Amino acid sequence: MPQLKLPDFSQLANRLNLDSDDAWAVHDEAVALKRKGEDVILLSIGDPDFRTPEPIVDNAISHMRVGRTHYSPALGELNLRRAVADYESRVSPHRCTVEEVAIFPGVTAAIYAVMSCLLDPGDGVVMIDPMYVGYEPIMAALNAKPQIVMATPAKEFVPSIEDITNKVDATTKVIFLNTPANPTGAIMPASLLASLAAFCQERGIWLVCDEVYSMFTFDQPHISLRTAAEKLDNLVVIDGLSKSHAMSGWRMGWAVSPPDLTKHLDHFSAMSIFGCPQFIQDAAAFALNNDEYYVKEMCDRYQLRRDRVCECLDQIPGLSYRKPQSGMFIMVDVSTIENDDKLFAKNLLDAEKLSLLPGSAFGEATRGHVRFSLVQPMNILMAGCDRLSQFIAAR
Ligand SMILES: Cc1ncc(COP(=O)(O)O)c(C=O)c1O
Repeated sequence: MPQLKLPDFSQLANRLNLDSDDAWAVHDEAVALKRKGEDVILLSIGDPDFRTPEPIVDNAISHMRVGRTHYSPALGELNLRRAVADYESRVSPHRCTVEEVAIFPGVTAAIYAVMSCLLDPGDGVVMIDPMYVGYEPIMAALNAKPQIVMATPAKEFVPSIEDITNKVDATTKVIFLNTPANPTGAIMPASLLASLAAFCQERGIWLVCDEVYSMFTFDQPHISLRTAAEKLDNLVVIDGLSKSHAMSGWRMGWAVSPPDLTKHLDHFSAMSIFGCPQFIQDAAAFALNNDEYYVKEMCDRYQLRRDRVCECLDQIPGLSYRKPQSGMFIMVDVSTIENDDKLFAKNLLDAEKLSLLPGSAFGEATRGHVRFSLVQPMNILMAGCDRLSQFIAAR
């Protein structure tokens, strides 16, 4: 029998087949070792260890039981869109209306939909290095052209307005921000956001901000792009419940955008996602309307973890870090000990069975760093610090 020649995969599929630069190799190996029963401490993950608060779980179950298990509108159930609009109206002086809100199964899906409706192949998108690992594949899928701004440790991981605007050229269609930022925990000041919003307004550029860590800030409050900006007609804010409500597996996020863009998001969603589960949206609306107590409690616990881990890191010679203002991670500079962060992480795993993520996974600005995740109970974090200390003492 002659061998059948299979047709090629699409260019899109091939573009998505990004070389992950073996940044995840140590994490993958650590997971495999743990599965075999080895005493590995996994601080390379970004999924909250807290359980989703019980009342939210109960709410979802009760809505399942009454039959909220059918199709829902592509833009989302009205009760959830209203809850998001109310939330966004509470945290910004600009009132947010239901017409501006689109619901997605997670922030990642919201970013993909928004960028799909804004970017054509070859369009420039200004992005800040270091960045969340999920951004690059989205731009690759769309064949957009990343225009990278370095947010170096020397700048406390916050670029200046000139750093950003200097990257803008005639191809630039979107400036894409993430504040509070993963992996650094840096918060962009209101003045920077306001200047950028004014710049983008004048130049006819979209300004999009991923604010998924908005509810986890420690020493200073999060300032939303919608709070800082004077005019909203070219702004998109994306947020969700994955981190703040320990609901990563529920897949709940949203985009707040001008109604004209929301209409396009409706079309995009209708042909791709076709609506999120009703009972999950009901529980998400309940979560947003009744969350003050447990979001604050989780945030306080992350802050305590951050403070205790920072105290431990202070005792380990050769390490330095910028204290994160938010989020669930500390970027630790290990470059005086080992400049190759992947080698550092690999040797650390081999010697001490502690898994940290190499900083170069997030970009050039965090090369020579490792990301220490705070999403484990305090005793495990302390044990992680001990192992890190022993590893460095033995070198
Ligand atoms: C900055 C940032 N954006 C988006 C996401 C993904 O959010 P979701 O799980 O809601 O898709 C993450 C997850 O780690 C993140 O750190």
